[in-house]
Amino acid sequence: MARQRVYVTRAVAREALDRIAQAADMEVWPGELPPPYDTVREKAAGADGLLTLLTDRIDADLMRAAPRLKVISNCAVGFDNIDVAEATRRGIVVGNTPGVLTETTADFAFALLVAAARRVTEANNYTRQGKWRTWGPMILLGQDIHHATLGIVGLGRIGSEVARRARGFSMEVLYYDVARHTEAEEAALGVEYVTDLPLLLARSDFVSLHVPLTAGTQHLIGAEQFAAMKSTAVLINTSRGAVVDQHALYEALTSGRLFAAALDVTEVEPIPPDDPLLTLDNIIIAPHIASASFATRRNMALMAADNLLAGLRGELPPNCVNPEARQS
Ligand code: GLV
Repeated sequence: MARQRVYVTRAVAREALDRIAQAADMEVWPGELPPPYDTVREKAAGADGLLTLLTDRIDADLMRAAPRLKVISNCAVGFDNIDVAEATRRGIVVGNTPGVLTETTADFAFALLVAAARRVTEANNYTRQGKWRTWGPMILLGQDIHHATLGIVGLGRIGSEVARRARGFSMEVLYYDVARHTEAEEAALGVEYVTDLPLLLARSDFVSLHVPLTAGTQHLIGAEQFAAMKSTAVLINTSRGAVVDQHALYEALTSGRLFAAALDVTEVEPIPPDDPLLTLDNIIIAPHIASASFATRRNMALMAADNLLAGLRGELPPNCVNPEARQS
């Protein structure tokens, strides 16, 4: 029987690629930058499986041109780059990589929180720019983290791990989510549920976003929400850039409505070099690296390979976001 064909849109960890190559004919896009959309579409046309990254747009048009495609394995926990409804209609299973990146991502969210509150990147720049002339009683003052209130928007896997870290800093932790956890879960995490977002925003010194990007969460944080926040507050976003309205964020950061922000994700990635946010001192912008530890990126790639191979065998990927695709 002819081996199945797989297209991989970027060189992920070698072990994962070897695992795929043992079972299928594999082609890997060699570039450091993502393949153009038309290239992925052309390669998908002859493929049984795709291993994709969050930088690849996998839409209905691409799937229409890919009659053999059985499985799309995204090497990410988020999958807003894929038209999952269309994949389901076509019986294509979609895999993602939850769990393995949870703690690494929570660590980074916390690193951003600490760095923005205590102005770590500004302080580093200050030293390197030769501005450090003396111990100054009033230089680079920031916000206290200990005993402050953290508001978590979206208490899923990653949000819960951020909550656990916050308790270690003696923070009070509030959360808002579309579904409430059980009282036992809340007690175990030491979190308090608030019934609506404005309430959480008004009470929080730090607001950390952990929701997926959907039609309902796009620009969840905009001018109205910034107006509800404390002017001393810090916003942390490690979810998806479009959850925050960046124009409104710029206004809030420049008008004194918000103390600082730290983003791992932006509405357009990479953020254009002329974006006004890059001119501000009170924002940290990282290049979408919250899951970027050696161990986690290896585990994500292996999980994505296993999802892909299961899909090729006609099985449900162990981490499948649309199991209903195989039910018809
Ligand atoms: C990263 O943002 C991911 O979704 O894994």
